[in-house]
Amino acid sequence: MSKKMWAGRTSGETSRLADDFNSSIAVDCRMFREDIRGSMAHASMLAAQGILSQADAEAILAGLDGILSDLENGNLQIDPTSEDIHMFVEQVLTERIGEAGKRLHTARSRNDQVALDLRLYLRGECEKISEKIKTLANALVNQAERYAASVMPGYTHLQRAQPITFGHHLMAYVMMLLRDIDRLKDAAKRMNVSPIGSCALAGTTYPIDRVFEAEKLGFDSACMNSLDGVSDRDFCVEILSALALVMLHLSRLSEEIVLWSSWEFRFVELSDAYTTGSSIMPQKKNSDMAELIRGKTGRVYGDLTALLTVMKGLPLAYNKDMQEDKESVFDACDTAEICLDVMTGMISSMKANEEQMRRAAQTGFLNATDLADYLVGKGLPFRTAYKLSGELVAYCLANGKILETLSLEEYRKISPVFDETVYAAVDLDACVSRRNCLGGTSEKSVKNQIIWAKENLK
Ligand code: ARG
Repeated sequence: MSKKMWAGRTSGETSRLADDFNSSIAVDCRMFREDIRGSMAHASMLAAQGILSQADAEAILAGLDGILSDLENGNLQIDPTSEDIHMFVEQVLTERIGEAGKRLHTARSRNDQVALDLRLYLRGECEKISEKIKTLANALVNQAERYAASVMPGYTHLQRAQPITFGHHLMAYVMMLLRDIDRLKDAAKRMNVSPIGSCALAGTTYPIDRVFEAEKLGFDSACMNSLDGVSDRDFCVEILSALALVMLHLSRLSEEIVLWSSWEFRFVELSDAYTTGSSIMPQKKNSDMAELIRGKTGRVYGDLTALLTVMKGLPLAYNKDMQEDKESVFDACDTAEICLDVMTGMISSMKANEEQMRRAAQTGFLNATDLADYLVGKGLPFRTAYKLSGELVAYCLANGKILETLSLEEYRKISPVFDETVYAAVDLDACVSRRNCLGGTSEKSVKNQIIWAKENLK
């Protein structure tokens, strides 16, 4: 049981159980830098507006500065029994500088304070996560460069479809990651509006300068409606949905890595550093990291769903339900960050088994479309060409042959238009290098994609 800083109307003490339940310090303590930075800007603004004396402002700034460095270098421990980081900092400040500390909370409420801290914190997270996405994208680009001409089967419905290059496949993920960076940038831009000065809900009677304070904190502007300023958590939902998509992309890549590294495929060899063994089966090399990333994707979706659900029924303005925002959004950030790091390590150290991929591309009639295109080149309508190619595939299947090894007579039995040039048409490498349109799978096109991606990753 304890007496609270906010004990105004109440005189009874709160129960220990309620205190623990109410406390968010275990979660929001990570925002101590943002909280202190916000308070410093607030004190400066109050002094500039003559709401606070210069002497008090100086004492507050020096006090906050001391708290910041003490927290950074471990000379001050966060008190786990504090209600939240805002209360903790204010309490330590008051203990250290006395009366002046009690003046800091003039023309402010924890409602606008927490909204401010969270925006500052998540603005930094957008930066940090974007950098990690960039690092992963660069790792993929490097591997794509290495395997720009390595032929592998491309799939639809997980059935062998057309030959592609491994570089092309990897570059597809780079494109997704570039959009992820863009989405985070976009979220960060809308997030960068200052709520401070909204106070509890209605603004304030003090002659504050919200724009001064917003500028001091690096915001693009100050929010135009105080109720919105303290009620809005769109910015949390936006970063969560951006992260849900990041995870979706990591999860699809993980799924492919799991498949590729299986004995059934054997397209890639993961480095020992990113695999695990089995406690009973000595031959095993499991792709646990990829599986975990795939699994943790569900967790980030959960974080997004949790916050959407917390927010959907809340009347304006602040409600304590909103304290739940941080656990979701921090968990999603932490999860995405570790997954990006692990994926980067796994991708950079992964080796492709080029012979095995080529072998897989040689069976399954991946060149059947090219055969049809060849017949179109000979003047047949595509539908007719498609049908004849299908008949040839059926013939091969029935006779244990492949298109590359059929004799010209066998081809001619199906249509007289076939000549020697058909072998060049169904050649695996030729099938790939012919797909040279913008965005195609040829080596040349992959190299173009790499140049484009590098430009965008700068
Ligand atoms: N710990 C609170 C949160 O994270 C801070 C805001 C509290 N405001 C209030 N009126 N109780 O949401």
